[in-house]
Amino acid sequence: MAADMAEVDALIQRRLASDVVLINQISHYIISAGGKRIRPMLVLLFARALGFNGPERYELAATVEFIHTATLLHDDVVDESALRRGRETANALFGNAASVLVGDFLYSRAFQMMVSVKRLRVLEVLADATNVIAEGEVLQLMNMHDPDLAVEDYLRVIRYKTAKLFEASARLGAVLAGADSPLEETCASYGRALGTAFQLVDDLLDYEGLSAQMGKNVGDDLREGKPTLPLLVAMERGTAQQRALIRHAIEHGEVEKLPEIIEIVRETGALEATREAARAEASKARECLAALPMSESREALLEFCVRSVDRSS
Ligand code: IPE
Ligand code: IPE
Ligand code: MG
Ligand code: MG
Repeated sequence: MAADMAEVDALIQRRLASDVVLINQISHYIISAGGKRIRPMLVLLFARALGFNGPERYELAATVEFIHTATLLHDDVVDESALRRGRETANALFGNAASVLVGDFLYSRAFQMMVSVKRLRVLEVLADATNVIAEGEVLQLMNMHDPDLAVEDYLRVIRYKTAKLFEASARLGAVLAGADSPLEETCASYGRALGTAFQLVDDLLDYEGLSAQMGKNVGDDLREGKPTLPLLVAMERGTAQQRALIRHAIEHGEVEKLPEIIEIVRETGALEATREAARAEASKARECLAALPMSESREALLEFCVRSVDRSS
């Protein structure tokens, strides 16, 4: 995808332009740090798999990356995170106010870009997706420090905050290619399942990963008292004592207990169970691909299913 992604990157650079110095500074700071660019790749791969090659695919690929980046700027403020993409976060370096406001700039620039494609369906898809992402982040805020969170409520949060943008990205490729409604839904289902797998693994890496590989700090979720699947499973399976320790850590956000809790999530098989849940979602995604004609793009989409589960960054 190198050539296509170079086009997307060039477009991203052009669309970042603003006369306001601080906007340029912060937006280039976070965008040039890289990131995996998964969401734009999904737009391009679905468009290509369904035979669409128009320039609108670059515009929408850049649009979803802008939306993603805006959510990261806001998310790192909310989560009080210090490391992102191997660098100090924008909030750590430039402050919360600047991060939130430049996030708003990227977000609204994304709206200018999606309008330029002049397709009502595209606007519908992205208006819905951005609205649901916001709901996901707020739901998660409400669930903070709640050790009694039900697994289905946790899953709802990750579907909303993360899977929805994967879903929209895949769907946009199909919309550009003029896919009929059942095919569009199948592409959307792929994105939703892949995004769910992706966030499950993100939550697992918060206990098992290496900061240097992820470019983010390990233990951030615990510090915030976020009841993610590794902890929910560990509480279900652990001894009364282990359960009490995790409950207390979620209620009080005790990151000092991280080494003990890592030990418990390992020992109880909670990490493996989380990976297994991700694998099940990835395999749902894989099944959707049967609806696409055979092509290199479809192969690449298949590879995403494997890599979303077996990743370390
Ligand atoms: C980070 O997404 C936020 C989550 C949904 C977990 P990515 O892992 O795709 O972030 P970048 O763009 O590669 O940095
Ligand atoms: C990311 O959630 C989801 C959005 C940014 C909407 P997280 O808070 O779990 O992601 P990281 O770990 O900060 O990347
Ligand atoms: Mg975060
Ligand atoms: Mg967050």
